[in-house]
Amino acid sequence: MKATAMRTFRAVVCATALAPLGVLAAGAELHLDRAPDRSGDTAALQHGAKLFINYCLNCHGASFMRYNRLRDIGLTEEQIKGSLLFTADKTGEPMRTALRREEAKRWFGAAPPDLSIIARARASEFGSGADWLYTYLRGFYRDESRPTGWNNSVFANVGMPHVLWELQGGRSFQVEQVRARSGKGPTGYEKVVATYDEEGRRTEKVEPLAGADHGEGARTDFGPARGGKLDQAEYDAAVADLVGFLVFMGEPVAGWRKQLGIYVLIALGVLAVLSYALKREYWKDVH
Ligand code: HEC
Repeated sequence: MKATAMRTFRAVVCATALAPLGVLAAGAELHLDRAPDRSGDTAALQHGAKLFINYCLNCHGASFMRYNRLRDIGLTEEQIKGSLLFTADKTGEPMRTALRREEAKRWFGAAPPDLSIIARARASEFGSGADWLYTYLRGFYRDESRPTGWNNSVFANVGMPHVLWELQGGRSFQVEQVRARSGKGPTGYEKVVATYDEEGRRTEKVEPLAGADHGEGARTDFGPARGGKLDQAEYDAAVADLVGFLVFMGEPVAGWRKQLGIYVLIALGVLAVLSYALKREYWKDVH
């Protein structure tokens, strides 16, 4: 009797402890598009820097990034001073945002985070941080129920509007979800198709599925973009450049690290010569 009670107790404890895991596993599947690699491509990184300064610095800062580090991607001091230095007086200053934190919170419901290391922060088992950013910046759709009029396919109910809208234009969006039927009536599964048209109006279609053997999950799909300055391929390329720059920012010491490697090798070389000289000095007396 006691053993049975113990077993029941253990089963309950285990089930309670593991229950949240089941929920997470079912809901956390995230499809990310692969970001093209722009590292070492200075023209692309310069384009990314310009996009970042023009479109992102209004709201986000990059406080680990000093303007003069733009020299690492091939820009001259004059170019930086001439057309890129918006939120500072000297090129040695960090890229601050023009927006005040309290104001941002009031307007968007959330403060725009510092983007210095966002490319590292967003890495997960579903892909690199660059993949997440590449999908996110191409994942905005109109949703009239949101305060900004925008929503995002990988960041649900995001507080950020689609700031690259003039480049991409508007698109329709569709989420197709298979889920267990809830409420009264027969148990089983249903397919829910939610469509947002180009103005962000939502329509929903629910259709019961026959049988009891369906995996739950969601699939998303975008309609073609209209009204932007760039076509789909150009927009994707521009976002890839911007993401390349965000990745570059997140590696504040990439250049220095390589230089340090060379210094270490030189120091080791000098040390080797010295040790050899010392060895000869000692052995002179032994022979
Ligand atoms: C009009 C202000 C505004 C502009 C301009 C803006 N953002 Fe945002 N951004 C926000 C806000 C507000 C959030 C916080 C959203 C939230 O938490 O719901 C955000 C969030 C983000 C996030 C998600 C951060 C996280 O939590 O992981 C990324 C990435 C991002 N922005 C990138 C960019 C990039 C790149 C640009 C330039 C193309 C940009 N943003 C321009 C307001 C802005």
